[in-house]
Amino acid sequence: MKKLDMLYEGKAKKVYKTDDSSRYIIEYKDDATAFNGEKKGSILEKGIINNKMSGLLFKVLEEKGIPTHFEELINDREMIVKEVEILPIEVIVRNIAAGSLAERLGLEEGTKMKKTVLEFCYKDDELGDPMINEYHIDAIELATKNEIENIKNYSFKINEVLSEYFLERDIVLVDFKLEFGIHKGEVILADEISPDTCRLWDKNTREKLDKDRFRRDLGNVEESYKEVLKRLNN
Ligand code: TMP
Repeated sequence: MKKLDMLYEGKAKKVYKTDDSSRYIIEYKDDATAFNGEKKGSILEKGIINNKMSGLLFKVLEEKGIPTHFEELINDREMIVKEVEILPIEVIVRNIAAGSLAERLGLEEGTKMKKTVLEFCYKDDELGDPMINEYHIDAIELATKNEIENIKNYSFKINEVLSEYFLERDIVLVDFKLEFGIHKGEVILADEISPDTCRLWDKNTREKLDKDRFRRDLGNVEESYKEVLKRLNN
């Protein structure tokens, strides 16, 4: 497959067209941003880890019946994916209060939620990705009712599969962000699943093994990303 023009460059990835109109190539970068791009930096070899980890987890999810855009890894930093039109909705799944939820509801970080919490944000950097609900999604036609039903069902299922998968490797899946796209008229999981988009805590020490180490200047950023991939490969 031949890599053609770049279609889009985001904060952490580049997307290229290919000579197959139904497939893209995604290249994962080491660039890291936080707080809607206010904080900028780079995490050495993050692109390699996020590419490999996303590939591995998309495969696990496909095996459990979740349709994803993933096709195959082609080198350390690149994967082939199905062409999708990304829905402008970020889906956040939370098992334990942390980050903006802990702040918003005045909960101590680490408080276990009695039920899984699902949130939606409108994917718009200029607006700072504001939180929205299903009425907003319907009213401004970000997705159809049927698409949202599928997104909710997939998100809960993904949470079940990934929580168990991480726990078997002594990692607690605290919360994570998903993006979905439309491929041939159907909703499929897209974007990435990595320490950039998940909060991952060591089961025993509760040590943070994700992008919060960069956001909050906690040190050992590269080491933590590497540790997660190492545990997933075991
Ligand atoms: P939050 O607590 O800051 O709202 O983040 C919730 C989850 O979503 C956390 O796992 C990090 C992830 N996330 C992203 O992947 N991208 C983002 O832009 C933000 C704000 C959060």
